Amino acid sequence: MAAQVYSKKDKKFPVLPNLADYEKLHAEFNWSEASKELDWFEDGKLNAAYNAIDRHAKGDRKDKLALIWEGAKGEKKQYTFLDLFKLSNKFANLIKNKGAQKGDRIFIFLPRIPYLYTAFLAILKNGSVAGLLFSAFQEQALLDRLSDSGAKILFTNSELAKRVEGIRSKLPELKEILIVDTPEFENELAAQPDSFETVKTDPSDFAFMLYTSGTTGKPKGVVHHHYAIVAQHATAKYVLDIHDTDIYWCTADPGWVTGIAYTILGSWSCGVTSFIDEGRFDPSRWFQKLQDYKINIWYTAPTAIRMIMAEGEDLPKKYDLSHLRHILSVGEPLNPEAIHWSIKTMGMPFHDTWWQTETGCISIANYPTMDIKIGSMGKPFLGMEAAIVDDAGKPVANDTEGNIALRPGWPSMMKTIWQRQEKYDSYFINNWYLSGDRGYRDSDGYFWFIGRSDDVIKTSGERVGPFEVESALVEHPAVVEAGVIGKPDQARGEVIKAFVVLEKEYLDKVKTTEEAQKLKDELSQYVKKHLAGHAYPREVEFIDKLPKTRSGKIMRRILKAKEMGQPVGDTSTLEEY
Ligand code: WTA
Repeated sequence: MAAQVYSKKDKKFPVLPNLADYEKLHAEFNWSEASKELDWFEDGKLNAAYNAIDRHAKGDRKDKLALIWEGAKGEKKQYTFLDLFKLSNKFANLIKNKGAQKGDRIFIFLPRIPYLYTAFLAILKNGSVAGLLFSAFQEQALLDRLSDSGAKILFTNSELAKRVEGIRSKLPELKEILIVDTPEFENELAAQPDSFETVKTDPSDFAFMLYTSGTTGKPKGVVHHHYAIVAQHATAKYVLDIHDTDIYWCTADPGWVTGIAYTILGSWSCGVTSFIDEGRFDPSRWFQKLQDYKINIWYTAPTAIRMIMAEGEDLPKKYDLSHLRHILSVGEPLNPEAIHWSIKTMGMPFHDTWWQTETGCISIANYPTMDIKIGSMGKPFLGMEAAIVDDAGKPVANDTEGNIALRPGWPSMMKTIWQRQEKYDSYFINNWYLSGDRGYRDSDGYFWFIGRSDDVIKTSGERVGPFEVESALVEHPAVVEAGVIGKPDQARGEVIKAFVVLEKEYLDKVKTTEEAQKLKDELSQYVKKHLAGHAYPREVEFIDKLPKTRSGKIMRRILKAKEMGQPVGDTSTLEEY
């Protein structure tokens, strides 16, 4: 079936330079030219935080607003680039006084308050490595990440700090917990000088790390270097189409890569004014923000878009969106209906972008000036080579399904997986980086997403590993073992579903449907309280036995096929089921 195309022929975008001739630009683009837009120290040194904030604070943008913030209770604050420069300098002095050194891991476990952003910048300025923890994490998720990384200092607030108390004794390397909403912290911060000599890091020095999930094992620490900002800057300019007069809103939390690359690094590097909203998602409230803050560029995610669509076509029409120019999406497949809907209700299409924690920057995108084949992720970013390859890393023909792969060597490719070299190596085959996603490329060079090649779950755009959820479930006394899958869901993309084998004594206790439901709810809540507020099973099913391979691995593929009423496929390696 031929794709529907949204033509950009008559649309005007203030893009510089004009991207209409994608093929030409793609061929001409080179990273060393692009890297000249950044400020380098002598001897080829580069610091990402310096580029995001300091250089603007020292130049023409010093009095320009960098951050317009609205708190969960409606509080409002504004910071110029100079304000952020000074405040992050104070934070940098503070951690330095606490003994933070180059390469030390310093973690942040905070809601989207201004101090999250200044702490992040300070850690990079000090040459330390910033680690981010999503504020929905509970004890187990925190313990896994803080212990694996050997974090030395943790920024948090009094509310979230309670979740760390119970695991503190298991974290011998964690020397200091800084609770930012206390008078003691404020006093200590106030006493710091607002100037700081930003460390002249090497481009290949580690800058930040984020734990992310695969199919097997605990989450892995994806580490990025300072040089990644070169790619984040270029993509913010060409894909997000950031201009000096724009007000930009990326709705992602910095607990996920989008909130780092495109709220802190690439976007501020382009000198944009960012709106940051601490509050929770709410369709009407979000439209109110788009109107009130005169947002020009809006970068959000399919689950939010689908939930907004569920409110009806009248919602966007109630607001003045005349400032909105460019809207984009990331994190999960953007369904064609969402694009048709935005054209109808807001007069412009959502632009899908594809990338991953590991790729560090938007890797495949619908550019502002390029025709959109509705349902496609677009074309590779300038300077990046993408292909569809088979399992041996051999490119396949157009229109053939295979692994979405990238040629290694772009600036923001992950630097390593923290202390797991073999995991890092396993991403590469035949000089291609394999994303774990399946898709195809059509004869016009557009890429189309099909699904994951592994069991990674995407629920409301957030990446969850089934193993983490299974491990949390088996901690409950009722559970012998558990198999966890992502079940397709209209609004959330996928929801987490757990198949649970019960201990004999519990089996005897759940004779009625009510009793069974009570235990299912208890198990969901258990994961929610121990692992993370977003990574719990919304559905639990009791099952006598899990399908396993002869070597004892849970075959989630079979659980999924059964759930979907599909054929189970090849079961030759399956233990009798
Ligand atoms: C999925 C988020 C379809 C994909 C920046 C990928 C997408 C994973 C898209 C990475 C898209 C991201 N269409 N799927 N436009 N963008 N994904 O690491 O499966 O949280 O591998 O990074 O999200 O998720 P991560």
